[in-house]
Amino acid sequence: MKGIVFTEFLELVEEKFGLEMVDDIITASELESGGAYTAVGTYKFSEMVQLLTHLSERTQLSVDDLLYTYALHFFKVIQRSYPGLLNTYSDPLELIASIENHIHVEVRKIYPDAQLPVFKIVKRSENTLILDYLSSRAMYSFGLGLMHESFNYFNKNFKIDFEKIKEDGTYVRFFIVNTDENSKSG
Ligand code: HEM
Repeated sequence: MKGIVFTEFLELVEEKFGLEMVDDIITASELESGGAYTAVGTYKFSEMVQLLTHLSERTQLSVDDLLYTYALHFFKVIQRSYPGLLNTYSDPLELIASIENHIHVEVRKIYPDAQLPVFKIVKRSENTLILDYLSSRAMYSFGLGLMHESFNYFNKNFKIDFEKIKEDGTYVRFFIVNTDENSKSG
């Protein structure tokens, strides 16, 4: 997992819960990195799992809720760091449908060792998208938050439901609808 995911996560933890919490969850974890992350480094996903688990225990918030909130923050990072990539699109459904074949392809050019999920389009119509998420990291709540922010970015109304196809969250189906008044149904 890329260092930027760790550095931004710990920044958000500091902002929401304070520096003591950051120290606390790092100390409670067994981290090969020692908890010293640089944005350009690459670290084991198991370190993120430990940090999330310890934060979840201390805040009584579920790991999924924490990942969702983190995604809202991470979208701002994406906006700041890769505005050109977002502005290739004018429509959130088009953007979300293009993660697999364009956006994450570009991400992999920047970070060849990035660990990215697989998105498979199941069904696409003008205002709807059924999208399967597959990843051993089970970060579908992170994906959900990024999808919500994609709609907010374009000021579009939406409804997103999901269904776990595998209970552990490694395979999740998203049902995404653009409910904007100006949109035609279908
Ligand atoms: C992971 C970049 C848009 C879903 C990541 C990572 C980066 C990244 C750097 C971390 C990779 C690693 O740690 O090795 C971007 C950029 C985007 C973008 C630059 C837009 C310009 C999106 C959108 C979604 C999404 C719109 C919505 C579904 C995910 C998920 C992960 C991820 C779920 C976590 C990894 C996993 O589940 O296996 N992305 N992303 N990304 N991205 Fe994107």
